[in-house]
Amino acid sequence: MSSLVDVANTVGRAFTATLTREEQRAMGQFMTPPAVAVFMAQCLVASATQTTAKVLEPAAGGGILAAAVVEGLLAKPQAERPRRIELLMYELEPRLIDGLKALCQQMRVACEQCGVEFDYLIRNEDFLLSELALLGQPLPGLLTIANPPFLKLNKSTDRRAALHAYAVHGQPNIYALFMAATARLTPPDGGWCFITPRSWMAGAYFKAARRTLLQHLTIDRLHAFESRTEGFEEDAVLQETVIAWGNGRALAEPGANILVTRSQGAGDIATAGIQALPLARVVSADEHAMFSLPAHDADPFEGWTATLKTYGFEVSTGPVVAFRATEHIREHGGTDTVPLLWLQHVRQQQISWPVQKKREHIVATAESAWMLVANAPMVVMRRFSPKEDERRVTCAAYLGQLPGPVVGLENHLNYIYRRNGTMTPNEARGISAFLASHTVDAHFRALAGSTQINATELRKLPLPPLDVLIQIGEVVGENPTLATIDTVVSEALALTADQQPNNMNVVAG
Ligand SMILES: C[S@@+](CC[C@H](N)C(=O)[O-])C[C@H]1O[C@@H](n2cnc3c(N)ncnc32)[C@H](O)[C@@H]1O
Repeated sequence: MSSLVDVANTVGRAFTATLTREEQRAMGQFMTPPAVAVFMAQCLVASATQTTAKVLEPAAGGGILAAAVVEGLLAKPQAERPRRIELLMYELEPRLIDGLKALCQQMRVACEQCGVEFDYLIRNEDFLLSELALLGQPLPGLLTIANPPFLKLNKSTDRRAALHAYAVHGQPNIYALFMAATARLTPPDGGWCFITPRSWMAGAYFKAARRTLLQHLTIDRLHAFESRTEGFEEDAVLQETVIAWGNGRALAEPGANILVTRSQGAGDIATAGIQALPLARVVSADEHAMFSLPAHDADPFEGWTATLKTYGFEVSTGPVVAFRATEHIREHGGTDTVPLLWLQHVRQQQISWPVQKKREHIVATAESAWMLVANAPMVVMRRFSPKEDERRVTCAAYLGQLPGPVVGLENHLNYIYRRNGTMTPNEARGISAFLASHTVDAHFRALAGSTQINATELRKLPLPPLDVLIQIGEVVGENPTLATIDTVVSEALALTADQQPNNMNVVAG
C-alpha cells in the first residue's frame, strides 16, 4: 500500500494540475512537497506524548501534512504512540473534499493496523470564520500543522481581518492570521508547525501577529530554505520560506535556545547542520519582537587565523603620487606610455579604462619604473569610499588585460598582489569578491570607528582557507553583482562551516 503521504500528494497534485498558474496564485494553492511534509511532521510529533492526539490541518489541500503527522505518530514506539487520533481538517475548496475523505479512510485502516483508534472531521468551510478559530481557546492535546494560503487581505472589506483584529497591523496577509489564530488554540502540551514565507519574521505588518504568537507559543525551532525557489520546487514560489515549530508553553524557560537549521531546498535537509541560538539572539526584546537568523552563531572570522600574508599576498598603496609625477603623466597615450589607473577607473567589481576624463597615461621608462607595477593579476581597490556606498570596500579583480609590461596605480588606490610571484586570475576574482561581500562588510562595520578601510585593516583581516577564496573566484565570474557575490560567498563559506568548529555550534542532529 502506498504511504498516506503519497496518497495525499497525489490528491493535491491532481487538483492543482487542473488549475492555471494564475488560479493557483489567486487561491494560494501551493502544495507542500512530500519530503518537506515528512520533515515538518517528524519534528512536530517527536515530543508528542498525548494519549489522545488531536491533529488540526486548518488549510488542508490534499491533506499531506495531516497524513505526515498521522504516519509520524503511528511510527512511534508503542509506549509513546497515542491510543487515539482525532483529525480535524478545514478546506475551503469543495473539489478537494472527496479526496480528503478517501485519504481519511486510508488513515483509518493504517491506524487500525497499529491498534490506534481514529476519528476524523472534514469541514468544507473557512477556517478563519470557524467556531474553533473565533473562540480562540486552547484545545487539549492539539497538534497543528499548516501550509496556509498566502494572500493579502483587504483590511476594510474582508471580515476575516476584522474578526482576527488582534493579529492585524497595517496590511494583513491571510497566512499570518492562520498562524495567530492557531497559536491561540495551542495548549501547553500541544505542538504547532507552519511553513510560510519568511516575511512574518521581521515585516512591520506582521508585528501584531508576531506578538500574538509569542503570547501563546514558545517557538523552539526554525528551518530556513535559503534558495528562493526550492522550498516548493515544483511550484517555483518566489518567496523564501521558513518552517517554524512551537509549543503552547507561552513562557520560554530562562536561557532557552532556538534550534536553527537551513537548507537550500528539500533535497539537502538531511545534511543541514544545526545551530542552537539563545532566544534573545533570534527574537528582539523590544515591542517589535522581530525574528532574525544570524548567519552563524559565532562570528566566522573568529575561526580563521590566516591573513593575506599567510598566503603570500601583500597590500600596498598605489605608488604614483600625481603632483610629484607630473612630468610622467600624460593626457594622451603614446608608444612610451602605459595605462595609469585612478580612483575613477575602479568601480565595484569593474575596472574601466580609459574613461577619457583624466590624465590616464604614464610614461614607462627606466626613470619612472620604480613607481610602476607589474601588469599582472591583482585586486585593485579604492582607498576612500563615500559613507553612503553600499559596501565599505569598493574593489575589482584586475586580470592584466590592459596593454603594456607595467601599469601605473595612483595613490588613492590600494592593490593586493603576490609578493614573490603572480596572483592567479581566480585568486584575484575570489579575493575581490570576498572583500566586497556582505560578510566582510558586516565585519568591517562592526569594527567601531573605522570609516575607511586602510591597508593596515586589510592586512589584519582574517581570511577563509585559500582554496575557498579560489573556489569563490571560479564561481563568481566576470564583473559580478553584489547579489551574486553574496550568494556565492555564503555558499562557499557554508561548505567549510563544519571544518571550522568556532563558526557553528554544531549539535547532534
Ligand atoms: C497553500 S495550500 C496548502 C495545502 C496543503 N496543506 C499542503 O500543505 O499541501 C492552502 C490550502 O488552503 C485552502 N484554503 C484557502 N483559504 C482557506 C480558508 N480560509 N480556510 C480553509 N482553507 C483554506 C486552499 O484551498 C488550499 O487548499
